[in-house]
Amino acid sequence: METNLQKRRENKKSLRVKVISLGNAEVGKSCIIKRYCEKRFVAKYLATIGIDYGVTKVQVREREIKVNIFDMAGHPFFYEVRNEFYKDSQGVILVYDVGQKESFDALDIWLAEMKQEIGSHSNMENIVFTVCANKIDLSKRRVVDESEGRLWAESRGFHYFETSAQSGEGISEMFQAFFSSIADMCENGGRRPVSGVNVGFTREQADTIRRIRSSKDSWDMLGVKPGATREEVNKAYRKLAVLLHPDKCVAPGSEDAFKAVVNARTALLKNIK
Ligand code: GTP
Ligand code: MG
Repeated sequence: METNLQKRRENKKSLRVKVISLGNAEVGKSCIIKRYCEKRFVAKYLATIGIDYGVTKVQVREREIKVNIFDMAGHPFFYEVRNEFYKDSQGVILVYDVGQKESFDALDIWLAEMKQEIGSHSNMENIVFTVCANKIDLSKRRVVDESEGRLWAESRGFHYFETSAQSGEGISEMFQAFFSSIADMCENGGRRPVSGVNVGFTREQADTIRRIRSSKDSWDMLGVKPGATREEVNKAYRKLAVLLHPDKCVAPGSEDAFKAVVNARTALLKNIK
């Protein structure tokens, strides 16, 4: 009796999980892992060939977690090697380089690749994702700002961290939150806890801010056709104002998006009789 109880306690204490790293080549996936596991930084680029595998033990609350890390190669050339490693992951580290917009835009493609590989029977909802906006030490070449990255991540229920594998900034905080959420999920019967990342804004608000940021002109920003009437412009404006008003919307970047919408409306109305 007592040994069974002891065994059960020990089982509860130790946990084995699988995590993978994803993101374009050269964004710093391997360096982030190296910084955390070996407390060092390698400036020379050594592309991961296919997959690198490592094991580390971490302590979350009273529980020991044995983490199997599969560090993926970002280069498209290695697709056929990495595709079989997506399955059965409890956690995903998604990395982009803040100085490379293309690597940020690619996050959607990485998610799509993963979804395809794990198959429709597996559920992306029950995996903990953390996004690393990496290379923040190179601030002069930064092109993706914090609000944009945070919005993308948090609107999906993912963690978001600003990191530098070079200086170490944000790395241990990121891993701590990541492993803690994975432990929560395991204790929650394998489901990602709803309160994991409480963002306080809706997916619609986040998507609208992203659309506004990438709109090509004022018509596009308000979502009306060129040549629309005053009435149509005002109607579109009101809808966006309700959604994005800074009193109502706490999503990162909402204030700038709201101002841009106000300016777009003013500019359009000036030219419509
Ligand atoms: P693949 O294995 O090809 O998919 O690339 P990766 O994402 O693993 O990139 P890796 O970690 O090998 O880093 C690529 C290059 O970026 C290397 O030259 C690193 O030294 C550099 N690097 C990584 N992280 C940082 C960072 O935070 N700051 C700076 N300045 N350089 C970094
Ligand atoms: Mg690598």
